[in-house]
Amino acid sequence: MKILITGNMGYVGSVLVPYLRKKYPKSFIAGLDVGFFAEKLLDNSYPEKSLDKQIIKDIRNIESKDLEGFDVIINLAAVSNDPMGKEFESATEEINFIAGVRLANLAKEVGVKRFIFASSCSVYGEGLGNSKTEKDQVNPLTEYAKSKINTEKELEKISSSNFVIKCLRFATACGFSSRIRLDIVLNDFVVNGLLSNEINILSDGSPWRPLIHVEDMARAIHWSIEDKNEDDFQILNVGNLNANYQVREIAEAVQKVLPTIKIKINKNASPDKRSYKVDFSFFNNLASGYQPKFSLEDSIKDIVKKVKDFNLNEQHIKNSDFIRLKALKDLIDKNLINSKLEKL
Ligand SMILES: NC(=O)c1ccc[n+]([C@@H]2O[C@H](COP(=O)([O-])OP(=O)(O)OC[C@H]3O[C@@H](n4cnc5c(N)ncnc54)[C@H](O)[C@@H]3O)[C@@H](O)[C@H]2O)c1
Repeated sequence: MKILITGNMGYVGSVLVPYLRKKYPKSFIAGLDVGFFAEKLLDNSYPEKSLDKQIIKDIRNIESKDLEGFDVIINLAAVSNDPMGKEFESATEEINFIAGVRLANLAKEVGVKRFIFASSCSVYGEGLGNSKTEKDQVNPLTEYAKSKINTEKELEKISSSNFVIKCLRFATACGFSSRIRLDIVLNDFVVNGLLSNEINILSDGSPWRPLIHVEDMARAIHWSIEDKNEDDFQILNVGNLNANYQVREIAEAVQKVLPTIKIKINKNASPDKRSYKVDFSFFNNLASGYQPKFSLEDSIKDIVKKVKDFNLNEQHIKNSDFIRLKALKDLIDKNLINSKLEKL
């Protein structure tokens, strides 16, 4: 089997690559990434070293010949959160939606059999009421979330029995990666809690956020490669069954593991409308051998241990090495990319 992972040099890809390498030691696994965060590692592991091939390319410039011979494509490449989507609106649409759909069309043309798309539970946006199933109405509030739902809609049209597509609507990621992120809620709380003894909640703490450990995301992608009994097109919410938390509860869970930490809630913050509870039972029923293994407490303990093992320190925070929006702005300031996120 030949597998291509786009966006492999990011937070998720840096965990997915070694994970799939272990599962498929004899398969040809390649990565394609523009390399925005290539050097933003905590260590010298460079997970892409275990690949058979690394292509450095913008997915907007992909050609058919880049895709020939692959059986499976996993599309992780994206402007990957709301703050970046707000700052780089047109690039978010171009990269996430237009280039993502073009990638799938080219893949189908050259005979790729399976396409796995990293979508997001953020499509539920202001998800009032019940826990959202895949059949519930979506309510995307941000450019990022809109790019994900628009992509899903186009992918549905091009799926077929010879071109199976799975859209994995991931919960908010957490946990350690050699390209760790501190712009996601749990990682931010644990690392800042450890380094400053304080958790600063920017909202009033009430929004709901389901969480998933990054290694459990890799497990779900593994299932998507292996699943045999399937429809041509599937959308699946991917997260821990019953693991919907309010942001305040996430901070309190961190405080339970690190009891000296103080929690500050910003009572005057304008309300964060992005709040959704998600029902993960469809994925739970279909993928019984591939369910998330990390509880919230496991995820917190994992980050605490790795922060210490890898000596993540104030300097990293000061350099903003692991905050994606700041890392991109830094590349712009250095004239390495422009505001459309094109390489100069
Ligand atoms: N982290 C989360 O909480 C989360 C949750 C749900 C879904 N997802 C999705 O999972 C995927 C991976 O997320 P991540 O956290 O690893 O993001 P990330 O930002 O850490 O990594 C994304 C990677 O895509 C690459 N990339 C961006 N634009 C590109 C382009 N034009 N051409 C080629 N490569 C490009 C970047 O260089 C980076 O290595 C994304 O699609 C994201 O939307 C992430």
